[in-house]
Amino acid sequence: MKIGHEALVIGNWKMNPQTDAMAKRLATDIKKTLAHAEGVEVVVAPPAIYIPIVESVRNSKKSFLVGAQNVHTETIGAFTGEISIPMLKSFDVRYVIVGHSERRKAGETDVDVNAKMTAIIKSGLTAVVCVGEAKRDHGAQYLGLIEMQIRDAVKGLSRAKLGNLVIAYEPVWAIGTGNTATPEDVHEMKLFIEKTLTDLYGRNYAQKVRILYGGSVNPKNAGEIMHDGKVDGFLVGGASLSAKDFGSIVTAVKSMLV
Ligand code: PGA
Repeated sequence: MKIGHEALVIGNWKMNPQTDAMAKRLATDIKKTLAHAEGVEVVVAPPAIYIPIVESVRNSKKSFLVGAQNVHTETIGAFTGEISIPMLKSFDVRYVIVGHSERRKAGETDVDVNAKMTAIIKSGLTAVVCVGEAKRDHGAQYLGLIEMQIRDAVKGLSRAKLGNLVIAYEPVWAIGTGNTATPEDVHEMKLFIEKTLTDLYGRNYAQKVRILYGGSVNPKNAGEIMHDGKVDGFLVGGASLSAKDFGSIVTAVKSMLV
């Protein structure tokens, strides 16, 4: 299959693993699996405290890039417990996840998501904005929710910057549950997200945004979802904690690109 962009696979480690030694081992093992991953951009997003370790393992253009799971909108000052964009940039972080459902559950609002997206993209980094419904209803009202999440997230973002935006469709019911969305569901949502962006920016510009799927992606289902769902790649949670599984997902994505 042909996709309009370089494929993208992001591993979101969430609050794992438990020690710095384990983080170093996992990053090292992941790097080894990526020796032949040309054509797929791979990002590893560890907990912030492990970013320096993961960045030092990376240490080469030919492996993965480093991502962050969250960031604050201000660049410096009295914000206890927060991490700024300049701090992330000083460790060569390139991607930042925003609005993950686990963070939305902890209080992150659409307004916060928009403010973070704006700050991230303004600084030259790429924002990975997560959207997704908690459940599906027969009247397809979830489509309206996704549209609103997207419209709220991208408020004020200019066309010229759309290449720095990634949208990850992550239905909440599929995250960490093993209930993956079907490839048909994923394709329907991919088209719907494209339509929403096209209404806002016009078709040519909308196509600059990469659209990922996330929610119980594993080595067995990745190829089919990529092929039939026609997404640009994946945001992977649980399976990114196994270098073998994560590497197999990247390989599955790569094999779909021919
Ligand atoms: P999962 O998580 O792959 O474990 O379902 C995906 C995510 O939360 O990004």
